[in-house]
Amino acid sequence: MPVRSCDLVVAEASEVISSPPNATPLRGEMLDHLDVTRFASVAIDAGRVLAVGPHEEITRRFTPRSVLDASGRVVSAGLIDPHTHLVHGGTRDAEYEAIVVGADPAATRLSGGINSTVAMTRAESDTELTSRAIDDLDAMLALGTTTIEAKSGYGFLPDQELRLLRILADLSHPMSIERTYLGAHVVPDGVERRNFVDGVIETLPEARLLADWCDVFCDRIGFTIPETRAIAAAAQTAGFKIRLHADQTADIGAAALAAELGASSADHLDCISDQGIAALADAMTVGVVLPTVALHMLEVVPGLVEGRLVPPPKADLVERVHAMISGGVPVALSTDYNPGSSPCLSMQLVMQLAMRLFRLSYAQVWNMATANAAHSLDLGSDRGTIAPGMRADLVVWNVPTHGLVVNRFGSSHTAHVIKDGNVVYSATRP
Ligand code: NIG
Ligand code: FE
Repeated sequence: MPVRSCDLVVAEASEVISSPPNATPLRGEMLDHLDVTRFASVAIDAGRVLAVGPHEEITRRFTPRSVLDASGRVVSAGLIDPHTHLVHGGTRDAEYEAIVVGADPAATRLSGGINSTVAMTRAESDTELTSRAIDDLDAMLALGTTTIEAKSGYGFLPDQELRLLRILADLSHPMSIERTYLGAHVVPDGVERRNFVDGVIETLPEARLLADWCDVFCDRIGFTIPETRAIAAAAQTAGFKIRLHADQTADIGAAALAAELGASSADHLDCISDQGIAALADAMTVGVVLPTVALHMLEVVPGLVEGRLVPPPKADLVERVHAMISGGVPVALSTDYNPGSSPCLSMQLVMQLAMRLFRLSYAQVWNMATANAAHSLDLGSDRGTIAPGMRADLVVWNVPTHGLVVNRFGSSHTAHVIKDGNVVYSATRP
């Protein structure tokens, strides 16, 4: 075979790991398997993976213009975060302390908190919101995330929602960003529901110029099934693809609606029913689960009421996640990054917590944070795995085995992050 030149070889990794390439998201027992090639290298050219294999083979076949030493380190696909509320103003750290030391029911504080972030977001200029978003994107990239989804949702009024989508569209950053119109987050205080839903629908054509996805918070504190169906149907007519916040605080049949709509993802799903699970599995809609939310909202840890321990409100979350996996739902992971229910930028921490809280294996969490997260954004044929032709979004991890990235928690393990074939972050000198 003739030797060909290429832009970059990521050389001599202790392990190159990848989900098995698959046209559809991984589910059931497929989630248990991860391809691990030891002492391997990855050849990259023009922003794409050319080849991956044992180091000797890659050296024989390619002459690189540049080499990145990955010896003693793991190489994986870039992490993909398919659910974030990136653009927002203000912080909610004071609210958090009140929640932790008090006994405030989760559902009430969620809608109140969203309203307070809307007020703080409106008070900030485009420049302020943009500079915060860029700082957050820098942090995410440094933590190994190379593609995110980002929603509007803290604007409420049509012109404010469009402003947030414009800020997202104008961001200049190496991160790939999939944009989502979440005009239907919660009904603002003092606004008539019917009028609000009509306003969301009327804004769809303009929002479509700025976003490919439409999301609705389909929940007892968000929008009802008929309201969500009306918004999503109009969104599909306007050319949007659908993802839903579904069954977070109660089972209202939102997962089944996501399946009926052919949504690419249904997210949260803490209270999903067995019927919802069957519907998502039939439709191959990806279920995006969000472990940091349940932990941060204190829903999976015991409470203390008058000095007595009370069981966690979502004690059965681990059972729900396993019912989804065994029921054939392709499951993915995400941060749900937002200032209230999940002020967390790290997909590393999400993988670490998912393993601990949901009792998952290393292979399951890696597959959920890479290939399945890509599929939930309809990007599974372009990224999320390391294979010839795939986008060269890679992470070199500063540990020798993929298990250690998940096992050791509390610090970041990234050594280098590669986006479209370029090294965009290095914790150490390349
Ligand atoms: O995904 N569930 C609805 N909304 C967001 C953000 C909540 C918040 O601002 O507290 C979420 O958790
Ligand atoms: Fe969310």
